[in-house]
Amino acid sequence: MDEKQQVVAALAAALPDLDQATLAEKIERPKDNKNGDYAFPTFFLAKTLHKAPQLIAQELVAKVDSSGFEKVEVAGPYINFFLDKAKVGGNVLMEILADPENYGSSDLGHGGNVTIDMSSPNIAKPMGMGHLRSTVIGNAIANLMTKTGYHPVKVNHLGDWGTQFGKLMAAYKMWGNEEEVKADPINTLQRYYVKINTEADEHPEYADMGREWFKKLEDGDEEAYRLWVWFRKESLKRFMKIYKLLDVDFDSYNGEAFYNDKMDEIIQLLKDKHLLQESRGAGIVDLSKYDLNPAMVLKSDGSTLYMTRDLTTALFRKRMYGFAKSLYVVGAEQEYYFGQLKAVLTEMGFEWAKQIHYIKFGLMSLNGKKMSTRKGNVVQLEDVLNDSIKMARQQIAEKNPTLANADEVAEQVGVGAVIFHDLKNDRRNRVDFRLEDVVKFEGETGPYVQYAHARAESILRKAGKPSFDGVELALHDEKAWPIVKRLSQYGETVERAAANYDPSLIGKYALALAKDFNQYYAHTRILVDDDQKLERLALVQAVSYVLKSALAILGVKAPDEM
Ligand code: ARG
Repeated sequence: MDEKQQVVAALAAALPDLDQATLAEKIERPKDNKNGDYAFPTFFLAKTLHKAPQLIAQELVAKVDSSGFEKVEVAGPYINFFLDKAKVGGNVLMEILADPENYGSSDLGHGGNVTIDMSSPNIAKPMGMGHLRSTVIGNAIANLMTKTGYHPVKVNHLGDWGTQFGKLMAAYKMWGNEEEVKADPINTLQRYYVKINTEADEHPEYADMGREWFKKLEDGDEEAYRLWVWFRKESLKRFMKIYKLLDVDFDSYNGEAFYNDKMDEIIQLLKDKHLLQESRGAGIVDLSKYDLNPAMVLKSDGSTLYMTRDLTTALFRKRMYGFAKSLYVVGAEQEYYFGQLKAVLTEMGFEWAKQIHYIKFGLMSLNGKKMSTRKGNVVQLEDVLNDSIKMARQQIAEKNPTLANADEVAEQVGVGAVIFHDLKNDRRNRVDFRLEDVVKFEGETGPYVQYAHARAESILRKAGKPSFDGVELALHDEKAWPIVKRLSQYGETVERAAANYDPSLIGKYALALAKDFNQYYAHTRILVDDDQKLERLALVQAVSYVLKSALAILGVKAPDEM
């Protein structure tokens, strides 16, 4: 069912010289419902017809077949089409209720794999807000991919290799205490790491010790390896707690270390293609053709870099998953780097380099403070989430003191609030927030949308959970029209969000639908016993399904009561 197609067909009969695609392109969606549901502007015909647009509109409207519409009218140079609301409304509702799971889904991707490099925190350091953004944006994009017929492969490219581990081991050997690490691994290891870095100025030998330990690690020294395995395991345990809170899982945890023994091939390929140049002992790839600085792939001591591992990773992923697209959800500070990565792969002649998309996002801060892990003033993601849950719990205690599973709901609301706030804005923007604002049940928040959903569910409970199986529906309540229109736009919103890797379109959509619904609810008695009651309940059920689906794309839960 496609309402726009109905408009195209009506116009096509009146304008036989124009093909349907052209007509479809010209048709607009008026912002104001007063101007109908679709509008056809006639300006572009003025030249060929040698007439004023107003006149064209008047002549044309007489030829348009208006049957099936509520009305078709001229407004200056426009022809405005008003859909038969009762019928269209009924159709939209029946479509949603017949298969709520798949409403808004499409098969654009034909099952093609999309690898999504996301989250990717660094071992032995706390997970910061940047990694939260990468995690929730990546997860929402994965859900958008599923909804549009792709198969997402979520990869956590853990930062578990590199010279910093040498430093960490050297620090541990000097000041380390096993019990202390076990009790609070990430913070303890982070402290050792900060200590060795801050004291390195006075003790130049520390830098050498770090290098030696990393060399040991790369050479497979037993003790170095054992420490590395241990640090990694403890860190991952903590990260898992956060992933559990966020309810995000991964298809792979192959991080940098995984590629450590796989880099020879890429180096050899670069040599074979005469792309590897020597510069003061280091190996670089010239990228001046791309207006970029050269990419370093080998250090002068022969060791490899972040870039070397990423080149290897890209090739590995292409072979392993045969991806249709390969996405990297990484903070804006690495934009230049990912430009270089793609350029090197393009230089190497890999056709598939075109399928690589860097998905950038801006910095996130709390109360105006940047959340960094380098310095001491760290705002930790886990604390932010836990504070948010606490605040949600308080609000529930005030609003719904008898709620049975209040703790579970508080978690869904508290975590959902942070995720929603992250995703409702264009990901490229910086985000600053105060938790108090984000967890509020009013305003442009996640809890506001969750609350609209819970309200809808409560109405349905009161109505005894009506069944709509096989019911022929029309929708006669004019006040419901903005909701129906919004509902009918869900699929195209999902497609646009997927095509632009932009979950904020779904966040904005959910807010708008929740607002439409609340407005309707404020002016309509839904449960009153008249002959439109079932229609109204069908509307409420459809709103509930679509709100839940939109929230699910964002990775936000929709409790039935809150
Ligand atoms: N671990 C890196 C960081 O925290 C992000 C890794 C992004 N992914 C990649 N393939 N380079 O900055």
